[in-house]
Amino acid sequence: MYLDNAATSFPKPEKVYEAVLHAMREVGASPGRGGYRRSLEASRILFQARETVADFFSIADSSRVIFTQNATGALNLALQGILTAGDHVITTSMEHNSMMRPLYALRNKGVELSVVSAGPDGIVSVDDVRDAVRKNTRMIAVSHVSNVCGAIQPIIRLAELCRSVGALFLVDAAQSAGHLPVDIKNSGIDLLAVPGHKGLLGPGGTGFLYAAPHVPLKPVVQGGTGTNSTSEEQPLVMPDGFEAGTHNLLGIAGLQAGIEFICERGLSTIHQHEQALLIQAEQALRIIPAVTVYGPSDPSHRCSALSFTVCGVDSALLAAELDHSFDIAVRAGLHCAPLAHRTLGTQPGGTVRLSPGWSTTSEEIAFFSDAVVQCIGKIRDSA
Ligand code: ALA
Repeated sequence: MYLDNAATSFPKPEKVYEAVLHAMREVGASPGRGGYRRSLEASRILFQARETVADFFSIADSSRVIFTQNATGALNLALQGILTAGDHVITTSMEHNSMMRPLYALRNKGVELSVVSAGPDGIVSVDDVRDAVRKNTRMIAVSHVSNVCGAIQPIIRLAELCRSVGALFLVDAAQSAGHLPVDIKNSGIDLLAVPGHKGLLGPGGTGFLYAAPHVPLKPVVQGGTGTNSTSEEQPLVMPDGFEAGTHNLLGIAGLQAGIEFICERGLSTIHQHEQALLIQAEQALRIIPAVTVYGPSDPSHRCSALSFTVCGVDSALLAAELDHSFDIAVRAGLHCAPLAHRTLGTQPGGTVRLSPGWSTTSEEIAFFSDAVVQCIGKIRDSA
């Protein structure tokens, strides 16, 4: 049983597998790298996928969608492509290392960094972020949803704050895209980093960065773009100049199919299904003696993932036992987000995290909670 959709979604909808195979078997060529029919068909697939992404996130101009390898690639581009020495950036203590490590690297190059602590439920206070603003605050960068405990940040109010202080707003949608609506047109988000392989149900190796037209983004990778070949400088044309090298066309074709699947089923249907499963899991876990569940107490302030610990039982050992005895896949430990665990009080051992997906059933969640009880008994008996 797969309950680690926060790491990557599995299984993918059937049409995702079909789209990948079609691009691999029937198309085969590289987009924008030839005038022959196969390459033109590859370019068409790439363009259609960009349009599908733009429609899904209410992005007016699809050329502002830059395909990347994952959300990490998108975050690195957004941070390194904008911030320079002397700029100040504010982030939160709930961030993944995909945000924190590029920020630490930029701090070593003279960028000022403030990390605002979230509350014990994982939600950051907009007032605390406002208090951290300085004259040179160039950007506020936050994850929409915590990958550890599913806490949803108040991004609409943070966007208003950004507008009022003239800072760019970067949102890491790694755990919200495909789970919650993200509407660029009405949100005030300037930069949105998205993985293709999680909630959007595409293959690994896909993701994108949306950059609003007023954002002065610079490429961080140089190379062939299939355009302006005599120029020694990386073209700044969107999106080509930011997508140097051969595209992951197979993955991008699958990503388009994943988004189409979500649209067919309905984002709100998927959201409600996943929310119901998380509530079921939380209720079942809370009645197990010695279990602590983390994150917001109000389920409407949480999505995608649920974290828990069992007093006296090592989280990694419990996850391993769930795998070995019941073939249940959950992720334990620090989830690449050490500051989030410090905030929640779950360092150094971390938590066990479950993250159901579109195909998870209520019966599976019931099986999971029974398995947790049995595994706790087994671990305690063998101690
Ligand atoms: N960021 C992914 C996770 O939280 C890999 O598991």
